[in-house]
Formats: sequence, C-alpha cells, structure tokens
Amino acid sequence: MALPTHSTRRTTVAFPLAAAILLLAVLWFVDWLGPVQHRQFPDVDDLRFVIFGPELDYLKLAAALFIVVVLVRLISLLLFEGAFTRHKISAPLLLRQIVTIALYIILFSVLINTFIGGSAMGLLASGTIVAAVLGLALQDTLGNLFSGIALHMERAFDVGDVVQSDIHVGVVEGMNWRAARLRTTDNHIIVLPNSVIARERLEVFRRGRAIGRRVKIRGAYSVPPGELISVVERAVVNVPGISHEFRPFVRVSDFGESAVEYEIRYWLEDYHQRDNMDAEVRRVVWYALRRNGFPFPFPVRTLRRPEPEKTRGAAAAHEETWHRIEAVDLLDVLSEEQKHRLADATDRITFSRGETIIRQGEKGSSMFIVHQGKVSVRLEHDGSADELAQLDEGSMFGEMALLTGEPRSADVVALTDVVLLRIQKSAMQPLLDEAPGLAAALGRRMVERRSGIESMAHHETSEEVTTLMSRIRAWFAVL
Ligand code: CMP
Repeated sequence: MALPTHSTRRTTVAFPLAAAILLLAVLWFVDWLGPVQHRQFPDVDDLRFVIFGPELDYLKLAAALFIVVVLVRLISLLLFEGAFTRHKISAPLLLRQIVTIALYIILFSVLINTFIGGSAMGLLASGTIVAAVLGLALQDTLGNLFSGIALHMERAFDVGDVVQSDIHVGVVEGMNWRAARLRTTDNHIIVLPNSVIARERLEVFRRGRAIGRRVKIRGAYSVPPGELISVVERAVVNVPGISHEFRPFVRVSDFGESAVEYEIRYWLEDYHQRDNMDAEVRRVVWYALRRNGFPFPFPVRTLRRPEPEKTRGAAAAHEETWHRIEAVDLLDVLSEEQKHRLADATDRITFSRGETIIRQGEKGSSMFIVHQGKVSVRLEHDGSADELAQLDEGSMFGEMALLTGEPRSADVVALTDVVLLRIQKSAMQPLLDEAPGLAAALGRRMVERRSGIESMAHHETSEEVTTLMSRIRAWFAVL
C-alpha cells in the first residue's frame, strides 16, 4: 500500500493554507479600501458588496472554507501522525478518514450556520425528503463504513496478513473506510468492500506467524519408513523460508495401493509463498531420496488375462466352422485335415437383412458358406431383377468369380441377418492343387448355376464340365 510521505503531508496542508492566507489578504485589502463608488453605477453605494457579497460575506466564506480545510488536515495530522508512523498500518487510516469526515461535517455546518443562517439549517435538518434520499444513496457506503469500523475495532486483520475467503485469497495491501485491497499470488488486485468482508467467513494468516502446511509424498514399500523419515526430515529442515519456530516432521499417513504415503508437516512464515514452498519441499525431497538410493514408487498392477476362456472360445468357434464345412456336400472331396485347414483359413462376416453381399458385375476373390440365415441370388437384366435362388445354411456362393476370375454373375442379398464363412482365393489355392476332385465338383455346381442364369434347360454335359475345369485350372495355374 502506498503510505503517505512527509512531503505529501506537507503539501496537503500548504496549499489550502496558502489559499486561505491569500484570501485573508484580499479581504484585509478590500476592507482597508473602504466604500468604493463608480460613475457608471451611480445607484450603487459600495461596489465591493456587489462583487464580494453583502458585508464581503462571499470572500469571508471562501477564506473560512480554506481555513476549515487547513484546520481539519492539521488536526488529523496531529492526531494520527504518531501512531501512523509507528505502526505503518492502514487501520488508523480508516479512523483518520472517519474523523476527518466528521470534522468537515461539523465545521462546515458551523460555517453554513454563520453565513446562511439558522433557518437554512433548520430547513436542512427537517428536510425528510433530503434525509431519505441521502439515506438510500448512502446505504452501501454506510454499510461499508460501519463494517470497516467493526473490522478495524476487532482488528480482524492488518496489512501484510494473508486473508482467505471461500473465493479469494491474497495479502492485504490496504484498507480504507470503503474496502480492503488484496494482492493474489497471480499479482492481481482484488478490492473487497468492507460489507462483503464482514459477511464472509475469513481465514486470516497473520504476517510473521508460523503457518502449518502438509505436503504428501510417497515412498516405496521396500524402504523402511524410519530411514525415509529421517532422510526427508533432514532435507526439509534447511529449505529456505521454512519457519524455525517449529521443527518440520514427517509421518506415515497411509499404506497406499502401491506406496507408503507420508505427510511432511512444516511451517512457513509467509503464507503468500505457500505454493512455492510446497514445491520447494517436494524438490528437495526428490534429491534427498535419489541421493540415498530410495526408489520412487509407481503404481503396480497385476493383470490377469482371461486366457483359458478365450482359448476355449476360439476352439469352440473353430469346431463350429469345421462342422459347417463338414456339412457342405461340395467339400466332401476334402480330407478331415484339409477341412480343418480350411476352417482355420475362413473368417466370419455378418450382414444385416437387406444388405447386398455380392454385386453383379464386380470383381471378387472370395466365396462364402451361409452359416446362419438366408440369402437371395438375383439376376439383374433389362433394368429388372429376377430371383434365381434362395440359399439356406450350408449353401455356398461366390465360387464362380473366385474360381474363374470372371465378374460376379449375380447379386446376392441377405434375406435375414446372416453370418457367413468367407473363404479367400489364397485358402482355396492349395486345396485345388491337393484335391483335383474339388475343381470337378465345383465345376459341376457352376454349370448348374450357369444354366439357371441363362434360363436354358441345359443339362450338364461332360464337355461343358471339362471346359469349365480347364478354365479353373488356368485361373489357378493348376496343371
Ligand atoms: P459369383 O458369380 O461369384 O457371384 C454371384 C453368385 O451367385 C455366383 O457366384 C453363384 O455362387 C451364385 N449363383 C449364380 N447363379 C446362381 C443360381 N442359378 N443358383 C444359385 N446360385 C447362383
């Protein structure tokens, strides 16, 4: 807070004093002149009264006003100077302001009474409207004033103390009849009206008094608490800024999940520095622990993976796929081992009702076995779609494009939610090599389906099968 200096105090008196002396000198001079008349104003007996009021009252009033200012300032200086200089606190300033205001009111009242007359005072005093308006206007101001007086009288806090309310915390930098000024740790200034302070629950940390702090640290379970405590206590005691009024100590506060929790209790003098001091204490502790080879604990978790269940689930899925493949008559030519390999190579894919699984004319490199649900095979031609077939669980589709490399011959759409087993070309390749009967069986199925597509009542001929088989071999480069 900016405390008034001697020079500012001198000027506060000197200026009104100079003005008062000047006015008194003018008054004396004008009085000494005697009555002044002028040809231009033949009706005026004494021009001085026109300029300076009847009986020179305006001049007297002006001089008296300045004298009042000088008097009030002198009284206030004499009354409070001693205490103010000695304590360098702002609370007497509040008193000083109140006394000053009271003196002004009294002395100005006397002046008005002298120069304007008792009737005016009476009018003012009995003016209930004026009183009401003033009362309303000054409600907050008076509230602040009286709260300030109360706070001052109970000496709730002084300049330099740290005050913490539910919302604010800061060092008190100054206090006057209206508000207190706090400086926060972020160097912001908060001006809190006295009436607000009086209402709030305040925690006051007196300047120069030791204030306790708690800092939590964690130690490894492998370190004996006694050792850690003595190392940390020795380290903390020398941290600059720590109060020596009480010796810092460390105690075990809990056995945590992955560490022993300790509480460092220390005291500091300047509460405003609490965050810095906490940080400094932690910093020093880190080095002390490190120097002494104490490990820093970190959360330890033992994770148990549900391995067995997962394996069982995968095995069950494989088993289910194998059973499905086993039931597909076209794949009868495969050995059990080959079917297991095929089961391993397939993946499951799901479609919801109405979704198109295969689109006519697109390229394709996989075929499917319906595991659950039902699909519809549709042929698009001339802008309309004809259903060629509905395929149930255990049926296979998509083999034509996979085996011949031709574009998909038809749309396949899910009639229900479906689960499919998808077989990629890479999974078929070795099987076609190993089991020549597979290409023949698939070739026969393709001939049937082709005939459906072409809407021709063709029967399979060994010639057509042979042709198709040679195309399959060419596509898979099987000799
Ligand atoms: P692909 O040509 O790869 O893609 C469309 C699939 O529809 C086709 O393989 C066959 O698996 C299947 N498909 C084509 N025509 C018929 C049909 N007439 N009956 C049943 N399925 C067919």
